[in-house]
Amino acid sequence: MRAIVCRTWGGPGELTLEDVPEPVPGEGELKIDVHACSVNFADLLMIGGTYQTRPSLPFVPGLEAAGTISSAPEGSGFQPGDRVVAILWHGGYAEQAVAAPRETFLLPAGVSFEVAAALTSAYVSTALALQRVARLLPSQTLLVLGASGGVGLAAVQLGKALGATVIAVAGTTDKLATVREAGAGHVISHRDEDWKEQVQAAAGPSGVDVCFDPVGGPLFDPALSTLGWGGRYVLVGFAAGQVPQIPAHRLLVKHRAVLGSSLRYFRYREPAALRETMEQLFDWYAQGKVSPRITERLPLSRTSEGLRALEERRAIGKLVVCVRDGGL
Ligand SMILES: NC(=O)c1ccc[n+]([C@@H]2O[C@H](COP(=O)([O-])OP(=O)(O)OC[C@H]3O[C@@H](n4cnc5c(N)ncnc54)[C@H](OP(=O)(O)O)[C@@H]3O)[C@@H](O)[C@H]2O)c1
Repeated sequence: MRAIVCRTWGGPGELTLEDVPEPVPGEGELKIDVHACSVNFADLLMIGGTYQTRPSLPFVPGLEAAGTISSAPEGSGFQPGDRVVAILWHGGYAEQAVAAPRETFLLPAGVSFEVAAALTSAYVSTALALQRVARLLPSQTLLVLGASGGVGLAAVQLGKALGATVIAVAGTTDKLATVREAGAGHVISHRDEDWKEQVQAAAGPSGVDVCFDPVGGPLFDPALSTLGWGGRYVLVGFAAGQVPQIPAHRLLVKHRAVLGSSLRYFRYREPAALRETMEQLFDWYAQGKVSPRITERLPLSRTSEGLRALEERRAIGKLVVCVRDGGL
């Protein structure tokens, strides 16, 4: 089968398109003919060897597999030919992948493979962070950093679907236009020196209730200051590269909390929450409440270009690798 292979820790330029043996399902595992896998920032961390866990080299990156089941063990609840999407540790940028039944979900008729790939890691992790960790309530104010990226744009749409007022922070005019279109009530550029004051003015006297932060770095400190009484700051990633230090004294007076949320650990600890969230996302997609913005479709051979766009902050929304579409 054709697959993108990481043989050495490094950047997208080190990845190679190769013919490799098909993966062999372990006990109880499903095998999937992969049609689509979306491009995620975590792929960059994984191929760079800086992710929370390091696969052994060589490995195939890619965090989802949307496609059809080619083999399923008895009792797994799946049949060959079922249209599914699976969350993977890695292995999605390949014509075949193996997956655990508990992290594999049947696709409703109206969900294409590309949409399923775009909806899965980014939207599931964002929904878990907003609903289960930050406990965002309708009519609260949500501040989203990195708002035009994969998880950021998901947070804008999900925040709106949950009835929150969304304040979105992004970098360029194009990115700001995209987040406005996605339903943000207020859009602010972090390139403006007074961006923190603009957020405070948009949030009003009670401040921000929940901040969703996939960026970290220099945005953390000003964003923390915008949290009001009982505000929750949920850290989902550090795209800026620096892990912020938390000034604990600034949590005390306003009863603020800083929380972490990780899809990887929800998979270990709360698989039922994962399935419920995926089902809710399919419903919300059918109702038009969320709709991933796929801004680029790439053939497998151009996977590195997609990853480079994320690395260079050029990407908006979700980029999807169409694994079987060699002619793109
Ligand atoms: N915890 C979880 O469960 C979970 C799940 C999925 C993703 N994540 C994490 O969330 C983060 C974002 O992932 P993503 O897939 O949404 O990535 P993405 O699409 O590339 O979005 C990242 C955003 O961060 C902003 N950014 C600020 N400084 C940056 C820098 N130095 N380099 C790159 N981007 C920078 C960019 O917006 P501007 O250019 O507008 O500033 C960009 O839109 C990653 O750290 C990822 O690992 C965590």
